[in-house]
Amino acid sequence: MPEISNEKSYADGNILQHATDGVGVITFNNPDKRNAMSLEMWEGFGEALTALRDDEAVRVVILRGAGGKAFVSGADISQFEKTRHNAAASEEYARRSVAQRALLADYPKPTIACIQGFCLGGGMQVAMLADIRLAAHGSQFGIPAARLGIAYGYDGLKHLVSLVGPSWARLLMYTGMRIDSTEALRIGLVERVFPDDQLWGETMAIAETISQNAPLAIKAAKITIVQVLKDESARDMDAIKAIGTACMDSADFREGRQAFMEKRKPRFQGK
Ligand code: COA
Repeated sequence: MPEISNEKSYADGNILQHATDGVGVITFNNPDKRNAMSLEMWEGFGEALTALRDDEAVRVVILRGAGGKAFVSGADISQFEKTRHNAAASEEYARRSVAQRALLADYPKPTIACIQGFCLGGGMQVAMLADIRLAAHGSQFGIPAARLGIAYGYDGLKHLVSLVGPSWARLLMYTGMRIDSTEALRIGLVERVFPDDQLWGETMAIAETISQNAPLAIKAAKITIVQVLKDESARDMDAIKAIGTACMDSADFREGRQAFMEKRKPRFQGK
């Protein structure tokens, strides 16, 4: 990967983060281990997410794996003997990693998982928490929890079922099988598949389009879709109303209308 000037490093360089022109990028960077996530990496991932969330210039965040062979190959199994060997240890492990995934689940900006290579176990959890999944042709997807004796947990399965439906979720979970990008696309696990050498360019093009659109309109879509996926009794219709009002009263809506009438490109500011 080329040198990037404003890159920040977390978890001893195993998580990297930078932002350019409104697009934030977080890189899982432990290619020797196929970007398997250690606890330190989960925590570094949380720090990187927080930094990009709080950077007003950033409008969209891409998640990717370094090395071309994996997005994330799951949790780092070599740590399990020490940190996840029984229910009590697992609970502490979960507490430290769930908090970071919750940041992604509640992320206020659009997120894109850019997947090249293996996307397994905890890597699938990260990818499924992103708003959009774009993958290279040569990628492989799977949740090998049944091969390891791990319970995958509510959040991961909730997203899996909502993306691919209960039958595919069962087939994947009961067998621990891996599927390729073509199958992942067909069952709705990923939204688009590109040749390996085009994935990054295509991902950036989508991210740049998002970063140039009206932030409040995107936020309104994001908040509303989250509520649509909840049970009716748990839906926060007030949140939908509030963002709808903010959007329709915004300077950006005025700018969007004017730019259209004047046949020019709008310049949105998120207000
Ligand atoms: N945890 C810890 N180490 C991992 C890992 C993981 N999840 N995934 C890969 N690695 C390590 C391997 O142990 C190997 O280390 P080594 O070089 O010291 O032997 C290195 O990464 C390369 O992996 P290798 O298996 O040689 O590469 P591969 O390209 O043939 O296969 C995978 C890659 C990802 C398919 C394979 O490593 C694998 O199945 N990993 C486990 C995936 C898993 O079960 N994830 C769920 C965890 S909850």
